Order: sequence, then C-alpha cells, then structure tokens
Amino acid sequence: DVVDVRTLGKHGYFTFDPGFLATGSCESKITYIDGDQGILLHRGYPIDQLATQADYLEVCYMLLHGEAPNEKEYEEFKETITNHTMVHQGLHGFFNGFRRDAHPMAMVCAVTGALSSFYHDDLDIHDEKQRLRSAYRLIAKMPTIAAMAYKFSIGQPFVYPRNDLSYSENFLNMMFSVPAEDYEISPVVAKAMDRVFTLHADHEQNASTSTVRLAGSSGANPYACIAAGVASLWGPAHGGANEACLRMLSEIGSVDNIPEYIERAKDKNDPFRLMGFGHRVYKNFDPRATVMRESAHEVLKELNIKDPLLDVAMELERIALEDEYFVEKKLYPNVDFYSGIILKAIGIPTNMFTVIFALSRTVGWISHWHEMMSESSQKIGRPRQLYTGEAKRDFKPLKR
Ligand code: ACO
Repeated sequence: DVVDVRTLGKHGYFTFDPGFLATGSCESKITYIDGDQGILLHRGYPIDQLATQADYLEVCYMLLHGEAPNEKEYEEFKETITNHTMVHQGLHGFFNGFRRDAHPMAMVCAVTGALSSFYHDDLDIHDEKQRLRSAYRLIAKMPTIAAMAYKFSIGQPFVYPRNDLSYSENFLNMMFSVPAEDYEISPVVAKAMDRVFTLHADHEQNASTSTVRLAGSSGANPYACIAAGVASLWGPAHGGANEACLRMLSEIGSVDNIPEYIERAKDKNDPFRLMGFGHRVYKNFDPRATVMRESAHEVLKELNIKDPLLDVAMELERIALEDEYFVEKKLYPNVDFYSGIILKAIGIPTNMFTVIFALSRTVGWISHWHEMMSESSQKIGRPRQLYTGEAKRDFKPLKR
C-alpha cells in the first residue's frame, strides 16, 4: 500500500521513519524488486536472464536509456565507452599523494570526485547531452581508476586501457598485466567478471543510490554525486559486506567451526553477524545470489581451484537455511555471499572487492541521477528530524 504524504508538511506534520523502512523517496522506472518473491527486474527484464544472456554493457545501456539496445546501438555504445576509458594524465599524479597502504576505496572515492576538476565540458546538469557524456565517462573510467588504485597499492606501473578488449577483459588486463607480460585472459574468467558487474549494476534505492540522489538533488555535479555513492557503499553493512564475508569465512576456517559461529550470530549480546546473510528488501532468496553461486562453481572448475572457503560457504548456507533463527527472520544468502569467492579465485585481493562493487554500481547510480535530473520538477532532498535535545534555555557567558 502506498500513502502519498507529500502535503502533510504544509500542515505542520511529518512522518518519522529512521532507516526509511516505510518511505519511498522517489518514482523510478529503472529497477523493480519484489523482496518477498525474490524478483529483481531491470527495465522489466529479469536479472537471471540478463546475467546469463546479456553482457554488462548491454545492461548499462538499458539502465541508462530505458530500452535494451539493438545491434547498431550496442556497437555505438560500446565504441563510445571504449573511447572514454583513458583518464586525464593529470589524474595519474593524484595517486602519488596516497600512502601505498591506503584502502583502494579511499583512493577511488577521492579520484572519482576529482574527475569534476578535469571534465568541465559536461558539468551543466540541465543539458541532457552533457549529462549523458558524464555518464559515459564514469562508466568508462571507473575500471581504469579501480585498476590504477590496485596497481598503485602494489607498487606496479599503471596499465593503459586497451580498445581491442571487452569491458571485463580490459579491466582484468589493467589489473593483472605487467610490463613484460600480458595477462592471459580466460574466457570463463572474463565472463564471470562480466557477470559480477551485471549482478551489481543496480538495486533501486539502496543506501548508496539514495545518497547519490540526495547529493544530486542539490544540483551537485555528477562526479561529486558518484563520489558520495562510493563513500556510502564502503560501509560493511552495504558494499563492504563481500570483503567482510570472505574475512568471516577465513576466520571460520573449517566446516567443524560453523556451529559455533551460527550460535554467535544468534546471540544478541554478541555483535557478530553472518556476513552475506540478510537483506533489507529480500525476505527470500536474492536472485543474484543464485546466479553468483553457479558462477562461483564455474570459475573454480575452470581455474582448477579447490577452495576450502567454498566448502565452508556451502555448509554454512546449508546449516543456516535449516536453522530456526534464520528461517524465522527470513535471512537468506545475499549477492555478497558468493561474489567474494569468485573474486578471490580470479586473484583479486580482498580490499578490492568493494571497489569492484563500486565500479559495477556506477551505472546504477548515474542512471538514477540522470532519471532524477530529467524530471521537470526537482525538489532538494531535505528530511526532517525528531528533536530530542534540550528545551530552550539561557546561555551563560564565560567569565573572562
Ligand atoms: N546475522 C545474524 N542476524 C541477523 C543478520 C545476520 N547477517 N541480519 C539480520 N539479522 C537479524 C537482526 O539481528 C535482527 O534481529 P532482531 O529482530 O531479533 O533484532 C533481524 O535479523 C532483522 O535485522 P535488521 O538489522 O533489523 O535488518 P535490516 O533490514 O536493517 O538489515 C542488513 C539488513 C544490514 C543487510 C543485515 O541483514 C546485515 O547486517 N547483514 C549482514 C551484512 C550484509 O551481508 N550486508 C550486505 C547487504 S546486501 C548489499 O549491500 C549488496
């Protein structure tokens, strides 16, 4: 049921809904979620079909433009994105200002925001052409920035983007090639990488997307808005969950230790939670987790990896799904539960997991920002609060 409460403010009332459990902040045509049924549609298309039959750039096109591209539109879009993959040479210098052990999310957040100081020609947010150009630039440059953050952190030279490679191949090449040796790209790995991007592309009004919309509602430029989204995503309850999930699986270490951790997750005096379990909207299987699970098995088989963490993950999933606490609270594995295993198998270090989420989600963020900016009337986002501080009292100046 939807109650439109927009006029209440005019009568001196407001709704009190911390955490926005029952508040819709906008209208949107981009993504539909039915959390009870475990349904996720982008522009009407089911996520499992997109993840298995489309590639990430097709999904980017439809999120941004509203319709799936035809062959010609797809080729043109691909070319446009490919042409924007390089970052301004001046941006290279930014990285030298960071400590080598800086978290890559700190670098990506800062450098994304800094893009606005390099691309002045697309900062007019009321011009649709400029808005789209900033969207193309962001989709194209995020893999380059992400790989640069990684290369900087391990002290290797940056690898320039290559126009002959697909989006995911190019990212893998920038991550893993070294001057003397090109990275050999396995088609299975490239497909899995593409699928990870697709499965994270959008998820309607989550914390980071709402942050982007709120920042954008003041008229802030798109690069600043996406930097705000990156910052919001960083938290362990959101995009940081796949990193936290893998750490948790390592900490559990062996199948024998699972019952102890399940008990800890249920203990309200213990802050420990099963990472990769539970979701604000899904009270059923996260449809993305189902596809991600298949991909995890494919990648491990292709790379001939026997990962004990996957055994722990499978057993943890089995036990939790049968446990009364998890059943009653409808806590199912979410997308982050399996993505970490795939990324680890590909050779991506744990501290890059959230960065990969950020680069995948950039298209969702910018599509929402573009949708919002295309509306004829746009209000600044300005929630109210329930004041719980002191009543009015007199100030006593210090005796000087
Ligand atoms: N382990 C143990 N108990 C949990 C878990 C969990 N992972 N998740 C929720 N619960 C319990 C809570 O303790 C709470 O119990 P209570 O009703 O007895 O107080 C109940 O389930 C409801 O949980 P809330 O935190 O109120 O639910 P909310 O919708 O606010 O939170 C969230 C959702 C943040 C995702 C939560 O499930 C969580 O912290 N999960 C682990 C982190 C994670 O995997 N995040 C990734 C989310 S998906 C994404 O961002 C792509």
